[in-house]
Amino acid sequence: MTDESAQRRFPRFTRSDRLEHWVQVIAFTGLAITGLIQMWSESAFTKVIITGLGGINSTRFIHRTLAVAVLIATAYHLGTAGYRFYVKRIGKQMLPNLNDVRAAAYSVSYNLGFRRDSAREGKFTFSEKLEYWSIIWGTVIMAVTGLMMWNPVATTKILPGAFIPAAKAAHGGEAILAVLAILAGWIIQQRSDVDDEGDGPVVDQLDGHVGTEPTSSDAGTQAT
Ligand code: HEM
Repeated sequence: MTDESAQRRFPRFTRSDRLEHWVQVIAFTGLAITGLIQMWSESAFTKVIITGLGGINSTRFIHRTLAVAVLIATAYHLGTAGYRFYVKRIGKQMLPNLNDVRAAAYSVSYNLGFRRDSAREGKFTFSEKLEYWSIIWGTVIMAVTGLMMWNPVATTKILPGAFIPAAKAAHGGEAILAVLAILAGWIIQQRSDVDDEGDGPVVDQLDGHVGTEPTSSDAGTQAT
């Protein structure tokens, strides 16, 4: 047995977290494809895809079906996250705090070459939290504007008619933003994976300080 395989492994996420993640990945990818091809439905390339999906009505049907999957997965996430947070009193690591601001500033100066090492953070890094909260507000915007377009008659009973084209513009714009943000995040992630794991200060999430990591020789004397 190699040293690496002899190391103990700790699952970072539960099985249901992973299942939920993959439902979101598949549904979001399908929504992005079926949505963006509707946005540019006149190009020769998107016409091929729309025809391949069975025409525009079938593309819209797939989009709405995947939207329902995202809405169910999101409701499940909010329910389980709420249970963990309020009943089991865990999951506080996902809340943004001052250490994230420090880690972000440290990371920017590292990326600009002013520091030799990147900061090491807690279970969730500042960029992971940023991405998580972006997905939350992004999903809220997509769900609200999508449901407005889906139910224009019900919407215009409450709001002026101009809200329908506004919802369409916001929905399309947010779709482009989300796709670009995910691609950018993925490229950055690939870059940091080949990077080292960071030898910079530990950004401790528990007691709220940034300090150097204690070694066996100076255990208990962590600098703040
Ligand atoms: C979360 C729930 C969502 C709902 C309820 C929803 C619903 C809709 C509806 C009703 C339309 C109008 C076309 C039609 O009648 O089928 C539409 C268009 C569109 N959707 Fe979604 N959608 C959702 C999520 C998403 C996501 C996550 C993306 C991409 C990341 C996306 C991208 C688009 C795009 C680009 C259009 C075309 C907008 C335009 O023509 O300007 N949608 N969506």
